[in-house]
Amino acid sequence: MPQPISLKSPPRLPLVGASLLAADWARLGDEARGVLEAGADLLHIDVMDGHFVPNLAFGPDVCVALRRAIPDAYLDVHLMVTDPAHFIPVYVEAGADHVSFHAETVSPEQARGLAAEAHGLGVEVGLAINPETPVEPWLGVLDAFDLLLVMSVHPGYAGRKFIPEVLKKVRTARDILGPGIRIELDGGVGPAKAEAIRDAGGDVLAAASAIFARPEPDRPGVIRELRG
Ligand code: DX5
Ligand code: ZN
Repeated sequence: MPQPISLKSPPRLPLVGASLLAADWARLGDEARGVLEAGADLLHIDVMDGHFVPNLAFGPDVCVALRRAIPDAYLDVHLMVTDPAHFIPVYVEAGADHVSFHAETVSPEQARGLAAEAHGLGVEVGLAINPETPVEPWLGVLDAFDLLLVMSVHPGYAGRKFIPEVLKKVRTARDILGPGIRIELDGGVGPAKAEAIRDAGGDVLAAASAIFARPEPDRPGVIRELRG
């Protein structure tokens, strides 16, 4: 089982997040443990409220259960919700190590405030942007964050096709922000896209289908290819 990590902990190798949305939910604990043993660094937990995205996923009690089942796992919680101010403390209480919330739900000033609040609660924090959301208006607040999450599909579902145009935003953000922030790509991420993602400056690769749609013996190889 991996040691607890921080997004800031050296060495700054690319990290691989296994997104549980495409796991077999009837065997969630075994699936989660299995991908960590297969080399994944983080468990990426999608939270969907049926408003920000037209789907529902992973309530806080699932997070509590995973934290209890795998105490050392790094739980990367992706809040696709219209009310992050309400849900950030809920998921911190449920055992998250990291919470990302969406720029589309807040003003830059509110984003800065929520990031400070999350840090005050003892977790790392990310700002997520949808494929059509420009990164430029948010560059000025990203000093308050540990991570920028660039969605590479329209959020809400696993198994969608990677939108390559978002890599331009990744390059812009990396050029301007430098190495001090993690940039996570989420959606349609698989071995075929990994090199382009890493070249653009992405250093957290979250994948659901590319990992969980494969039989268990193939998963260590997929995770290695994602990391590069
Ligand atoms: C999409 C979620 C992603 C999703 C990725 O809204 O945020 O984390 O699980 O699924 P794949 O990797 O199958 O595109
Ligand atoms: Zn996600």
